Amino acid sequence: MIKNEKSEQQLKTLLQNINQNYKIEYFSTIDSTNTYAKNLLEKNLNQNLIVVANSQTAGRGRMGRSFYSPNASGLYFSLTIDLQNKNITPSQITAFSGVEVCNTIKDFFNIDSKIKWINDIFINNKKVCGILAEGIIDYTTGKIAKVVLGIGINLYKSKKDFPQEIQNIAGTVLEKEISEQTKIEFTAKLIQNIICFFQKPNRKSITKKTRRIQKTFFFNWKTSSSVSNN
Ligand code: BTN
Repeated sequence: MIKNEKSEQQLKTLLQNINQNYKIEYFSTIDSTNTYAKNLLEKNLNQNLIVVANSQTAGRGRMGRSFYSPNASGLYFSLTIDLQNKNITPSQITAFSGVEVCNTIKDFFNIDSKIKWINDIFINNKKVCGILAEGIIDYTTGKIAKVVLGIGINLYKSKKDFPQEIQNIAGTVLEKEISEQTKIEFTAKLIQNIICFFQKPNRKSITKKTRRIQKTFFFNWKTSSSVSNN
């Protein structure tokens, strides 16, 4: 686990307007941002976390699969979402976050992407992003109190090719490398969009998002694979 103090400071500056108290940490490398956030929540459930990494050594996907998380070319982060007093379920969190990923990619890079139900994002029939939402139970109430929302995005082509088993499935948002600064700005925008939506999910915004999900709904059995990324 290696901290990236410079990127952490830049991200904190860009996110200073979000009006919830988030502990923000940025790592050059970590085992898994989801595992790290879950471990912190187990010690203290009363905290809001944003954990970002440039690479993961044990990135996790759904159903116990691993998530290929190479250095720099990808973006890997987890953030906690408080479910208390919110009329929203963990699976809706996955679905609505997917819409925010698509919207932010469009706004920031002017690139169209599609959701493959329920937690993968595709561009040109290649998976560029996976989402893993994990519920944390409050043992005093027996209910899911928080969700650790983990998002992994292949931003641009890295020098190393994807491993052979995912070469036909995995793609990147961009062809060309972007600077660390641009990557942090995109990260901040996406995190901000997700947090804003879940701060006050109301009937109107949920209906709007649901329409967007229906519009972008996309499923292709041929591209469905047993390997998680991607
Ligand atoms: C999937 O495709 O099955 C979901 C992949 C989710 C990957 C992200 S990367 C950030 C966070 N940390 C993890 O270990 N997994 C999620």
